Amino acid sequence: MGPLLRCGFLLFFLGTFSTGLDFQSGSESLGRSVFVRRSNAAKIAKRSASSSLMGSSPDHRIKRRSADQQQGASCQQHQGFKNKLDANTHDYSFNDLSGSVSLAWVGDGTGVILALTTFQVPFFMLRFGQSKLYRSEDYGKSFTDVTASINNTFIRSEIGIAIGPENSGKVILTSEVSGLEESRIFVSVDFGKSFTSRDLPFNLLMQVSYNPEDPKVLLVLSISYELWLSQDFGSNWKKIHDMVCLVKWGRKNTIIFTSANNGSCSDRGMLELRKTTDYGKTIKTVANKVYSFGLGERFLFASVMTGKGTLRNILVSVDQGETWNTAQLPPVGHEQFYSILATNEDMVFMHVDEPGDSGFGTIYVSDDRGTVYSKSLERHLYTTTGGDTDFTNVTSLRGVFFTSILAEDNSVQSVVSFDQGGEWVPLRKPDNIKCDATARDPDKCSLHIHAAYSIAMKLKVPMLPLSEPNAVGLIIAHGSVGDAISVMHSDVYVSNDGGYSWTKALDGPHHYAILDSGGLLVAVEDRGEELINQIKFSTDEGQCWSVHNFTSDPIFFTGLASEPGARSMNVSIWGYRDSLLSQYWVSFTIDFRELLTRVCEDKDYVQWLAHSDDISDPNDGCMLGYKEKFLRLRKDSVCWNGRDYEINKQPTPCPCTLDDFLCDFGYYRKENSSVCEEQPDLKGKVLEFCLNGKEEKLITSGYRKIPGDKCEGGEVPVRKEIDLRERCVSDQVTPELQVGSHSSRSVAIVVAVVLVMLLSVTAGVVFVKKYVCGGRFLVHRYSVLQQHVEANATDDMDEPLETEHTQNGKIVFHDDSDEEMLE
Ligand SMILES: *[C@@H]1O[C@H](CO)[C@@H](O)[C@H](O)[C@H]1NC(C)=O
Ligand SMILES: *[C@@H]1O[C@H](CO)[C@@H](O)[C@H](O)[C@H]1NC(C)=O
Ligand SMILES: *[C@@H]1O[C@H](CO)[C@@H](O)[C@H](O)[C@H]1NC(C)=O
Ligand SMILES: *[C@@H]1O[C@H](CO)[C@@H](O)[C@H](O)[C@H]1NC(C)=O
Ligand SMILES: *[C@@H]1O[C@H](CO)[C@@H](O)[C@H](O)[C@H]1NC(C)=O
Ligand SMILES: *[C@@H]1O[C@H](CO)[C@@H](O)[C@H](O)[C@H]1NC(C)=O
Repeated sequence: MGPLLRCGFLLFFLGTFSTGLDFQSGSESLGRSVFVRRSNAAKIAKRSASSSLMGSSPDHRIKRRSADQQQGASCQQHQGFKNKLDANTHDYSFNDLSGSVSLAWVGDGTGVILALTTFQVPFFMLRFGQSKLYRSEDYGKSFTDVTASINNTFIRSEIGIAIGPENSGKVILTSEVSGLEESRIFVSVDFGKSFTSRDLPFNLLMQVSYNPEDPKVLLVLSISYELWLSQDFGSNWKKIHDMVCLVKWGRKNTIIFTSANNGSCSDRGMLELRKTTDYGKTIKTVANKVYSFGLGERFLFASVMTGKGTLRNILVSVDQGETWNTAQLPPVGHEQFYSILATNEDMVFMHVDEPGDSGFGTIYVSDDRGTVYSKSLERHLYTTTGGDTDFTNVTSLRGVFFTSILAEDNSVQSVVSFDQGGEWVPLRKPDNIKCDATARDPDKCSLHIHAAYSIAMKLKVPMLPLSEPNAVGLIIAHGSVGDAISVMHSDVYVSNDGGYSWTKALDGPHHYAILDSGGLLVAVEDRGEELINQIKFSTDEGQCWSVHNFTSDPIFFTGLASEPGARSMNVSIWGYRDSLLSQYWVSFTIDFRELLTRVCEDKDYVQWLAHSDDISDPNDGCMLGYKEKFLRLRKDSVCWNGRDYEINKQPTPCPCTLDDFLCDFGYYRKENSSVCEEQPDLKGKVLEFCLNGKEEKLITSGYRKIPGDKCEGGEVPVRKEIDLRERCVSDQVTPELQVGSHSSRSVAIVVAVVLVMLLSVTAGVVFVKKYVCGGRFLVHRYSVLQQHVEANATDDMDEPLETEHTQNGKIVFHDDSDEEMLE
């Protein structure tokens, strides 16, 4: 959630709000934004930066830097941009000043936006509300009031709009039905042009969820925890199951859910994990004593009670629950949680909370089976109070992630990994920037990125870090330069090489957006409650900025909105006007197409080798066994990439080294060594590690290729294979945990000492991304939200609100709070 508070207003993005529990998959940005008018100015409590700071290691091992640093290059003004932009600025005033407006893009490249304004007043136990629906077909330049097409019904903004996957054109609006047995939805199959109403025989608890593989099949939970399914886009519904606590779409039309036989979803650890592959005709139990479950790409995780007190551990399945293995991760107690930070086809990043209310845990990365884990980062910040982690996948460069650690002195510090969790280092200090007061040495410090945690702490950070897969190497983020993150100050920093080097782009907090696949950046300064009439833009990846007055009559600014995917050249500035006599929402949509005058040609692009500063060095730039050269827009080229711009990537394999392998069970690496050695004290030590059955998995030579590694030839470790079955003992897992699998195979259990095994790799795609909004998202990304599990162990923790397909954004809206933060 990105609650962006400033100037008496909030801008936030609805998304999966995870309440508690294991396995909240991180959801990236969702195709909508919500702007909320605040009744009261946020009081930002004065905080002082923590004074005693652990120095982050000053000699970071960041060796690579951008090849073409143009810092100091003189900035060229765009000639006559004022007239061009004035001629292409379209303003629209809404005859309406409701409390909030939510925007949703329908389809990709269609230019269709639905804007829902809602106004609600709580009145005793009832809520009175009014909403209006507007629709644009031209990227927000103009809107039509289409409230009549839904018969003026009140639509709930939190779970109200569900956009179908891809370009299905499907939209579902949920009307408010408090207190009734039934509810009503409005469905559209023509991108919101027309709506038909459907009455449901139950009251909705969550947003309707589309089958990612067939958007006319819908799934939803009722407020009495019944699971309902429709195969004809909402006309007919059938009940599949009672007492369902959490439900998710698996692969190939599979529905996976937990159910509580004894009638309460708060009965954690007593749930059944069930699945159906034929829309509920047959239902199979795949695990018992389940606490929670999570899905990430091909991995299905279930946390189950171990039978030892309140401890639970993780089972993992790569066949949708048919067979399970125990993940080699530490078991956790009831006050702790597991969280999937990111997954891709090959592996998983898993956070395991520390015991106690520490606010941090450890990141582990998995092997390709999801069973063997290597420690990747300790003291990883993941608060139990705010439920926030800064973990961020830098989508503009393969293998790059950053997050925050909680140092021993309780200061928050940013770290980055360029090799998918293999090694984490501080971010390099931008040149020419002095370290702030948090630094002991004014010349030696690092850059710290403000992400979800800072936003939750209500620091002056209006947006999360931003990167886009089609804007190669580009990252924009708020940050500060010192020994730890500053609670006083944030500026906007830009990296154009995937996070190796950074430059300061703008002073103070801003809202920003990436347009035209990185060819154009825009930003609007966040100046608290002041009126705004200026937008800044840059055509050289943030080095030089021009300022444009988009109106002569300044507005109260609430946020920027542009089509998700960063291919557009249209950006809307949202805000409102507020005078004694009238109050109304306004949007200014600027089409930058004219500014860039010409389409880019071959000469506008240069070759760039990712993860390298020397393109001529044959050994440079290898990452997971291959390197990639890109054609990137030259900074001084002022031209138009266009909607159809495709990244031009040239991957070549690298020769293997021992570092392309991780150590398998029972093997470990000594410090500073790449060789996997047999764990001497493996025998006799009992720890929960067991492997279910398959013979080939029990034969090892000690090395396993890092998941996703594509190296070829080179140094391939050869060693006699050992059959680990000899070491197995046979009862670590209670048989009843393994239900329903065709388990004629014996459960073999490997007893292993959990040592730091090795590093592996990662990547994760958030499920949501594929289907909920058809891949069209607002450009704001945020990390997983996770709350302390048992802290509020009530029924609603188990609400399906936390499912990945829910768009359900809980409003993180601290109206008058002046609570202290960042102690
Ligand atoms: C709106 O109400 C009219 C009359 O009550 C009805 O005929 C029409 O079908 C309704 N439209 C929708 C979208 O529900
Ligand atoms: C349901 O409750 C009964 C008694 O309270 C208990 O024996 C049984 O194990 C419970 N079953 C489940 C699945 O929770
Ligand atoms: C742009 O707006 C600012 C106030 O926000 C004003 O000071 C400045 O003169 C304006 N510039 C032009 C060219 O109108
Ligand atoms: C900007 O909006 C116009 C419609 O107003 C549309 O034709 C154009 O394709 C949009 N530009 C981009 C790059 O999306
Ligand atoms: C490993 O390398 C680091 C830095 O090169 C050094 O400080 C450390 O002492 C080495 N450790 C061992 C066990 O050799
Ligand atoms: C990170 O983002 C990239 C680009 O969207 C994606 O391909 C990759 O799978 C993601 N990795 C993880 C671990 O989430």
